[in-house]
Amino acid sequence: MKIWVPLDSAAVALGADDVADAITAEAAKRGVDITIVRNGSRGMVWLEPLVEVATDDGRLAFGPMEPEDVAALFDGLESHPKALGLTEELPWMVRQTRLTFARCGIIDPLSLHDYELHHGLKGLKRALSMAPAEIVQEVTDSGLRGRGGAGFPTGIKWKTVHDAAGPQKYIVCNADEGDSATFADRMLMEGDPFTLIEGMAIAGIAVGATKGYIYTRSEYPVAISQFQKAIEIARREGILGPRVMGSDYSFDMEVRVGAGAYVCGEETSLLNSMEGKRAVVRAKPPLPALEGFMGKPTVVNNVISLASVPVIMDRGAAFYKNYGMGRSHGTMALQIAGNVKYGGLFETAFGLSLGEIVEDIAGGTASGRPVKAVQVGGPLGAWFPPALFDTPFTYEDFAAKDGLIGHAGLTIADDSTDMLKMARFAMEFCAIESCGKCTPCRIGAVRGVETLDRVAAGDTSGLPLITDLCNTMKSGSLCALGGFTPYPVLSALTHFPDDFATAKEAAE
Ligand code: NAI
Ligand code: SF4
Repeated sequence: MKIWVPLDSAAVALGADDVADAITAEAAKRGVDITIVRNGSRGMVWLEPLVEVATDDGRLAFGPMEPEDVAALFDGLESHPKALGLTEELPWMVRQTRLTFARCGIIDPLSLHDYELHHGLKGLKRALSMAPAEIVQEVTDSGLRGRGGAGFPTGIKWKTVHDAAGPQKYIVCNADEGDSATFADRMLMEGDPFTLIEGMAIAGIAVGATKGYIYTRSEYPVAISQFQKAIEIARREGILGPRVMGSDYSFDMEVRVGAGAYVCGEETSLLNSMEGKRAVVRAKPPLPALEGFMGKPTVVNNVISLASVPVIMDRGAAFYKNYGMGRSHGTMALQIAGNVKYGGLFETAFGLSLGEIVEDIAGGTASGRPVKAVQVGGPLGAWFPPALFDTPFTYEDFAAKDGLIGHAGLTIADDSTDMLKMARFAMEFCAIESCGKCTPCRIGAVRGVETLDRVAAGDTSGLPLITDLCNTMKSGSLCALGGFTPYPVLSALTHFPDDFATAKEAAE
């Protein structure tokens, strides 16, 4: 009997280890021979711990499982009270286009054999048959854009590094993932680490870098340990090292762990942290592509950008580019969280409307109350009211409505949410996380909190000041933290003016 129990942090937080122990104990008691695979998550967090059992028809899903539900698994699978049917036929799975997360939750994350059985290493093998410039061109042609948030074309970034002179170049994978409501990077590193290793190796070969670093946060202990083990296996099997898969290319990598400051996700601050310096933001130019880690040409890409490269190299640029809408090509791993019925990771081609995502896929709020707003793009993203739910999920369409898709985190709030408090939270977050290098952010965020407190106390004369302050922060801040904090503040003010006026009425 083959059974899968996720090792994913979300599943473990919900009791997956206890369920795995209960399965082992029950099997021993009954003398049943079982194999437990600790897999990644399928992304249906509301069903975690999601246990799967192999049958002749495919994998049967059970969830959310508790240790007391385990004994019944051995009495009959179909009749189990938590039987959900075949995993692949669950509506959440059927509606997805899984390209980057194709293997996550399916394979044993640390089995290179399993990885290869599921199309693993095909992209790297093809890359090794091409000239570096051809690889860069293929990634450019795929239309892949930075999945960390900024959406800069990955191929153009690689070309800048490819064309830069210098004997030493680096690949830095930004796995700091500080946005609230985001967990795609973590899920991939825990559930399918070889995909990221393969993507980084392809990037290294393409631009002429021999060394890669994955910078992540100490809050991700499972991802760190999984990734380190995967690197050791890849080295042992000749995927990494002086002769990548027997070729003349050399590429190796290591994990660097930061203490978890939000600003360390900003690429130049991240580089300073990696160099052992205080993590303050550097002015650009010079771009990291020309003067990055230790002053050398460096590709800094998000986990999902790099993990999307193997499928592009395996299936070809045209295959990938065919998905999506407008200039937003390929798929995006939506991370749905907050007050929501069905939260989790849903990979789909760009172009679904926000309303389809929130109402159809995520099922509306967990509280059952009407949705008031959705914050898209982490703590620096704008709040979108239902009136804007027809907005297609693309980089351009969100920018056109004064928002951003960022790293594709969606936080859903019901009609009991006070948007003034949400605006204050954004300013407070910025004040706490600011690196302190520039004045609009360092001082502006503190003044923003104070002014919103005045508004909450009934002094609405502070509102024009907030708008003014936000405009200054937008245009005067050195990086996205100070520059984008105005998005949640101004969107709350624009779409929910009553919440700011109500504060006045309440005070009177
Ligand atoms: P940016 O627009 O300054 O830069 C985008 C990227 O393109 C950078 O890597 C930059 O070095 C590179 N680039 C620009 N011109 C280039 C050229 N000619 N050649 C090569 N490379 C070039 O944006 P930034 O500040 O890097 O990122 C801001 C975004 O980060 C925001 O949209 C936000 O959504 C996102 N973000 C994501 C977080 C997460 O947890 N994933 C956390 C915080 C922010
Ligand atoms: Fe630092 Fe804030 Fe300025 Fe960014 S905007 S450089 S975080 S002070």
